[in-house]
Amino acid sequence: MNEVLLIVLAYLIGSIPTAVIISKVFFGFDIREYGSGNSGATNTYRILGPKWGTIVMIGDMLKAIVAVKLAFFLPNSFENDIYLVNMQLGLGLAAVVGHIFPIWAEFRGGKGVASLFGMVLGIQPNVALCCVGVFILVLYLTRWVSLSSILASIAFPIFILVIFNEPEKLYRVFALTVAMLVLLTHQKNIGRLINGSESKVPILKHRDR
Ligand code: G3P
Repeated sequence: MNEVLLIVLAYLIGSIPTAVIISKVFFGFDIREYGSGNSGATNTYRILGPKWGTIVMIGDMLKAIVAVKLAFFLPNSFENDIYLVNMQLGLGLAAVVGHIFPIWAEFRGGKGVASLFGMVLGIQPNVALCCVGVFILVLYLTRWVSLSSILASIAFPIFILVIFNEPEKLYRVFALTVAMLVLLTHQKNIGRLINGSESKVPILKHRDR
């Protein structure tokens, strides 16, 4: 299939607003009107509880994994490693952009963390698991999901460049891009972390709407 068509398809898949669909279909409201206003797993967990938060997280990760796997449909995908890496990164990023700016949901989506994780899991599982380690450690120590996301994404280029010493330049640029992207999508969280108003990981109960 044509590369441009695949990238568009990846964007459309990433645009599927998992949290918005679940909140509207099963609860009759838009998740973006509550909590942090984010259409993501953390806010779903915060408002609808752990079961739905987990479902959204898996859904958002799957979107990016499916997008990366669209590279399978490239006619000569396995003939040239660099070409394949290029396309996988392009497809994954298209899905992440779709998640953050979804065409199906007024371009108001999530912060891209679960989708980015799904994407990295589909391309470099070892690095993805190292980042999960950082995420869990920070979450355990601080109970701030946003800080965990931010530090895990900052750790990502450190793992790629320093620990794994990845020789492929594309991966290096990609890793730095991911860290910047997560910092950009978490600007409000960073403000709240600085002024002390960021909420800690929610207790296992539904919050009043
Ligand atoms: O992945 C999003 C998370 O890091 C923060 O979500 O809803 O607390 O802004 P939220």
